[in-house]
Amino acid sequence: MRSYSSPLAHPLPLPCGTVLPNRFVKSAMGEGLAGRDRLPNGLHCVLYRAWADGGAGALITGNIMVDPDQCPPSGNVAIGPATPVEPFRAWAASVRGNDCKILAQLNHPGRQIAKKYIATPLAPSPIRLHKGLMRCGIPRQLEHKEILGIIDAFSRAARVCQAAGFDGVEIHAAHGYLISQFLSPLTNHRTDEWGGDPVRRQQFLIRIAKAVRDTVGADFVVGVKLNSADFQRGGLDNDESLAVMHALAGLRIDFLEISGGTYESPVTLGKGYGASSASREAYFTDFAIMARKAFPLPILLTGGFRTASAMSAAVEEGVTDLVGLARALAQQPGLPRCALSGQQLPPISGPRLLGHKRLDALVDLRWHVAQIQRIAAGQKPDLALSSWSALKQSLIRIYGI
Ligand SMILES: Cc1cc2nc3c(=O)[nH]c(=O)nc-3n(C[C@H](O)[C@H](O)[C@H](O)COP(=O)(O)O)c2cc1C
Repeated sequence: MRSYSSPLAHPLPLPCGTVLPNRFVKSAMGEGLAGRDRLPNGLHCVLYRAWADGGAGALITGNIMVDPDQCPPSGNVAIGPATPVEPFRAWAASVRGNDCKILAQLNHPGRQIAKKYIATPLAPSPIRLHKGLMRCGIPRQLEHKEILGIIDAFSRAARVCQAAGFDGVEIHAAHGYLISQFLSPLTNHRTDEWGGDPVRRQQFLIRIAKAVRDTVGADFVVGVKLNSADFQRGGLDNDESLAVMHALAGLRIDFLEISGGTYESPVTLGKGYGASSASREAYFTDFAIMARKAFPLPILLTGGFRTASAMSAAVEEGVTDLVGLARALAQQPGLPRCALSGQQLPPISGPRLLGHKRLDALVDLRWHVAQIQRIAAGQKPDLALSSWSALKQSLIRIYGI
């Protein structure tokens, strides 16, 4: 399958010793496939087998919540103290037979959860999410011992994933979720050991990264997804993000995935939603170049990659070690295999947008979730799916209308 002339075909050894067979990584996308038991099921297995067949070197799962009581009643996978390992074993096994690694993304929503699910969410400080379409409750400030409990929950979830046969985990410290809330001066107003200055705001992430590494040992992949910036006035900026990377550099992290944005600032999905960076199609490229100088470990750049030439140039020019693809793989699960065999890539499109930044971010997300769910059902993506039907599904989910 491989065209060895492409830099995308070169294997990448990670610091823990695991070798990724090529430079394509499927970035995390919440699948919305779990039932009320919050466990992975047969649909997850069909979906990840399709992605593994598609040729990516590694697949990062959609975010798995580390506390089943802090997530919506269905859709998300979650791991709690009583969670059985077996369903996770089947999920991890679904990629075997392909030269492909599977990493579980671990997350806690903090304040970013709809009020109808959790009226009083947990957060570093009682600051409510106030922009965006989702109505969220005023959070309760976490107590010190609860913070320690959540750190334990991340390592417990990592232990379950390791026992189940996953190759590693990614700690989700981006996109305005709980770890990102601790990092941001906008949402962390604490004055104790968990806030008050940039070093103390980093402590929650650092303690989680250390606890996870201590739990899983030296030869299991541990990555971190971090915002280049929150893209909000007063939020995490490029300088503080680089400082976080410096702090992570000594912690036996295997890769750092670069992203950006929060629910209040949906730049995660691109320039159209306000990501300021770059003339290049990967819109966090400028920051990735800065990060490489600051951070001596592998970089996974995600956001905006659409063409084989941009992907291969990013690796060849040393902007990134790994190319993260999310929406492109919801549309074309076989894209890596196609690129590695030197074939012309099919164009990556997306839903027709409506011209409203926030609604469009929602349409974009829901349209891609619909494609993911088609693949999980053994169907082909439907690239002609209408934006309105994706939006309708989303409004039903958010407002129950
Ligand atoms: C449907 C969907 C679900 C997503 N879920 C997650 C998630 O669970 N965790 C995460 O870190 N990012 C998530 N993302 C963001 C992607 O990982 C990625 O950062 C973003 O889509 C930009 O990359 P792309 O241009 O390749 O799509 C999601 C994106 C989409 C479209």
